[in-house]
Amino acid sequence: MSNQQAIYKVPAAIASNALVNDEKYRKMYQESVVNPEGFWREHGKRIDWIKPYSKIKQTSFDDHNLSINWFYDGTLNACVNCVDRHLAQNADRTAIIWEGDDAKEQRTLTYGQLHVEVCKFANALRSQGVRRGDVVTMYMPMVPEAAIAMLACARIGAIHSVVFGGFSPDSIASRIKDGRSKVILTADEGMRAGRTIPLKRNIDEALSKPEVTTVEKVIVLKRTGGKIDWQEGRDIWWHSLTATASEFCEAEEMAAEDPLFLLYTSGSTGNPKGVLHTTGGYLVYASMTHEYVFDYKPGEIYWCTADVGWITGHSYMVYGPLANCATVLIHEGVPNWPSPARLGEIIDRHQVNILYTAPTLIRALMAEGKEQFEHFKGDSLRIMGSVGEPINPEAWRWYHEVIGHDHCPIVDTWWQTETGGILITPLPGATDTKPGSATRPFFGVQPALVDNNGTILEGATEGNLVILDSWPGQMRTVYGDHERFVLTYFKTFRGMYFTGDGARRDEDGYYWITGRVDDVINVSGHRLGTAEIESALVAHDLVAEAAVVGYPHDIKGQGIYAYVTLTKDTEPSEALRQELRQWVRKEIGALATPDLIQWATGLPKTRSGKIMRRFLRKIAANEITNLGDSSTLADPAVIDTLIDTRLNRP
Ligand code: WT7
Repeated sequence: MSNQQAIYKVPAAIASNALVNDEKYRKMYQESVVNPEGFWREHGKRIDWIKPYSKIKQTSFDDHNLSINWFYDGTLNACVNCVDRHLAQNADRTAIIWEGDDAKEQRTLTYGQLHVEVCKFANALRSQGVRRGDVVTMYMPMVPEAAIAMLACARIGAIHSVVFGGFSPDSIASRIKDGRSKVILTADEGMRAGRTIPLKRNIDEALSKPEVTTVEKVIVLKRTGGKIDWQEGRDIWWHSLTATASEFCEAEEMAAEDPLFLLYTSGSTGNPKGVLHTTGGYLVYASMTHEYVFDYKPGEIYWCTADVGWITGHSYMVYGPLANCATVLIHEGVPNWPSPARLGEIIDRHQVNILYTAPTLIRALMAEGKEQFEHFKGDSLRIMGSVGEPINPEAWRWYHEVIGHDHCPIVDTWWQTETGGILITPLPGATDTKPGSATRPFFGVQPALVDNNGTILEGATEGNLVILDSWPGQMRTVYGDHERFVLTYFKTFRGMYFTGDGARRDEDGYYWITGRVDDVINVSGHRLGTAEIESALVAHDLVAEAAVVGYPHDIKGQGIYAYVTLTKDTEPSEALRQELRQWVRKEIGALATPDLIQWATGLPKTRSGKIMRRFLRKIAANEITNLGDSSTLADPAVIDTLIDTRLNRP
């Protein structure tokens, strides 16, 4: 049976009271692309503006004349939209339900309490000299204070730059340097799957690097009470600042196009890029997609399992849901610890209605067997989402059956750090789904498939996925390097935004994302540039050359396969292999650790010295029967040696 044939109809119980049915989707979509100005003029009103906008959209994807401006004469404050505006009606509604890594630790915060905490911390930030436009780097565990700190930054017009807690001191240092942060927010330690994570120690190490010269203050949240080093004059406890801070804090009036946050993400070349999102368009788009994609109803409990260090944690754990006055569940740990049953226990304990998670978790749970869910009731669950990487149809069906008990629609949401919010997705009440397909574009989004020359392809076909016109949540620039923004996204196919993904479109117009077509790999939903891992490897004294590719991995989606050429006279050994894995881990973070390292005496190169990665990808995938033409290689015999010594064998 081909994937296209399996269709899951919108369940009648969902369709009958959904925000949007199929007819309405088609009508709204049509309007959104025929008359974007009119469409967004209306929908921009879903958030509160201090000075209402009169200008809606001024955008051009022409690489010589790039401009992306939305609602651009309006002013607002994102924090006020996520907190203050709910107080009149819903001060007692729960904003955040928090469950610790250890399930015995539970906390809740109402919108009223969230307001107090955010205001106090915003004042604390001001007291430490943080001003409008400053970049505040955050390296925080998954606790309510992470959201509080983001909102506090937004309140005073500071730009937060969250660094995922799994990144190494080197990675933290390069992000602090790029953002020129004066103030860092962290905790003594984080907790994850029963282990402590030395957040403060990693910050200390990052700050000891000579390239980090801007930092004046480190604000430290006491999470575990573990022992940490303390630098008098630089380090300050979070609680000592908030103890005396006022609960009243005036919010800054921000222009729609003022920066809201930076978030670093990997590309096919160079260092991670600081993706810059601005205030008005981002908030309109994050809140609108959150409401429509999850068919969010007031009072529902919504759980997104993403870490705050990724864009999903920004748009769908903090800004989108809180702007919608949702009740958000935040879990500190991982949903399959201490046992795979944890996911179900959390859903039942907190009566979760909407779950948003990643294929890698679903595959990990699937590998444990259905028995793990024997005691799982799941009767509160209504809608389930997937994000981060293509979901294979087997995992989709397992998710649908075992977690969703065959009655919860799955929304497979395709988007990127750069897009700010979801671009291609089913809507629960409108879209019949097919396992493995992200289906149709959200309102205002115009996807297209192009061939390698940039010619738009029609009908059922496959090609490079581009977007033809802007949407409000789009990134505006690469922080400090606008040229790189233009070059990366708008020069490959002129006049179009290039996503870096390949996709197929079927006869129903449904999109099937096939994965990256550039040198970016996706490991457990985490995006990594192969070039970054290669430069980490060659920074080791004994490595002469390295080439990194992704290969299919049962749980992670893609694993990391490195071909390494050692320096002359260096003997390969298992000990050296382990050392190199640890080395990359230390340079970038655990998520970048190579799964397989093959010793390569030579790499397949053209006569001009370019590495032909397609051979390396195939050998790593154990697809050795149809390698294609190797006649352009300087030394075709290299291929046979690599095949003979390949590591990924069944
Ligand atoms: C890349 C973006 C979007 C937030 C998390 C990842 C892949 C993402 C899907 C999906 C197939 C997906 C793409 C994309 N991706 N969602 N539903 N189906 N692929 O954000 O780290 O910026 O990565 O993740 O390859 O380009 P990110």
